[in-house]
Amino acid sequence: MNHIQLNQQKVSTIVLGLMRIADQTADETKALLDAALAEGINMIDLADIYGDGRCEENIGKLFAACPGLRDQFFVQSKCGINIKGTAFDGSRFTYFDFSKEHILASVDDILRRLHTDHIDSLLLHRPDVLMEPDEIAEAFALLHRQGKVGCFGVSNQNPTQMEMLRKSVGFPLTANQLQLSCAFTPMIDAGLNVNMENRASIVHEGGVWEYCRLHDIAIQAWSVLQHGYFQGVFLNSEKYPRLNDTLIAMAGRKSGEYGHKVSPTAVAMAWILRLPHRMQAVIGTTRPSRLHEAAVGADIVLTRQEWYEIYTAAGNRLP
Ligand SMILES: NC(=O)c1ccc[n+]([C@@H]2O[C@H](COP(=O)([O-])OP(=O)(O)OC[C@H]3O[C@@H](n4cnc5c(N)ncnc54)[C@H](OP(=O)(O)O)[C@@H]3O)[C@@H](O)[C@H]2O)c1
Repeated sequence: MNHIQLNQQKVSTIVLGLMRIADQTADETKALLDAALAEGINMIDLADIYGDGRCEENIGKLFAACPGLRDQFFVQSKCGINIKGTAFDGSRFTYFDFSKEHILASVDDILRRLHTDHIDSLLLHRPDVLMEPDEIAEAFALLHRQGKVGCFGVSNQNPTQMEMLRKSVGFPLTANQLQLSCAFTPMIDAGLNVNMENRASIVHEGGVWEYCRLHDIAIQAWSVLQHGYFQGVFLNSEKYPRLNDTLIAMAGRKSGEYGHKVSPTAVAMAWILRLPHRMQAVIGTTRPSRLHEAAVGADIVLTRQEWYEIYTAAGNRLP
């Protein structure tokens, strides 16, 4: 397993995302965590809203029941999406909330659910247009002083939003968590299509990929096996015949090269981690066997040609 540094801690490039464990039994979740550790995966990713808090509660019960388990992981969670609003007609209303009050209350709730006194990283989940960077800075400073949060980052933010935060916040932003997979690449398409008139040349996120590289902000790819916005898994999908043929062929070739089984899932992870930056792939499987397949990908290095072959097999054209 390869590693990068986050806040001076060595964390695995494959991260176990725990968004989909709300309905798991304790034994199933424990098996998943054990499988992660066995693969050298020492970082987990959560958010206060996953399963309305049940995902964190499941992990918290295990942390409480298994002494030492908490400290084997670099624990990251997110806040900033407020799902507890009530609309004028009494219906439930979700909105984005980076207020100091919401951030502080969210972290206390996260710590309570996780049965821990600190998390290693906190990300702001989705940009709040009404954000006041000075207020966020106050919240971060207090959480750090209290020892509740080790480091801070963002998710789904563009460079200008990060610049606004960095002006006020006295800590480096350690990571930006962004959607990226072989079949979802808006953040790199524009950089390959500079000064073109095609759709791929549209700069969707203000050059976030280049910005994070320039400012040494780790990129954590989410939905690493999905296409579109939660439209499903591209592996074995009829919508991506050439991509699947390419991944299968490359998995076979890499199996021969490395002398052990390399699956298409592993190649899809290797494709993300081949990007020359401090990259992490957050995989959301609930199955230990798939976690193993993904972990294999952390140690597979794709050639430049292989990387571009996968990119174009997903339907992208090079200018
Ligand atoms: N920051 C954000 O805004 C944001 C948004 C979304 C997610 N995230 C984070 O990213 C993590 C990963 O997201 P994700 O769960 O969408 O990622 P994912 O790893 O792309 O998707 C996981 C899902 O794909 C299924 N799957 C995997 N391989 C498959 C195959 N070969 N055939 C059929 N199904 C397959 C898994 O089923 P099995 O469980 O059966 O393997 C699981 O339901 C989340 O847990 C969360 O931590 C962050």
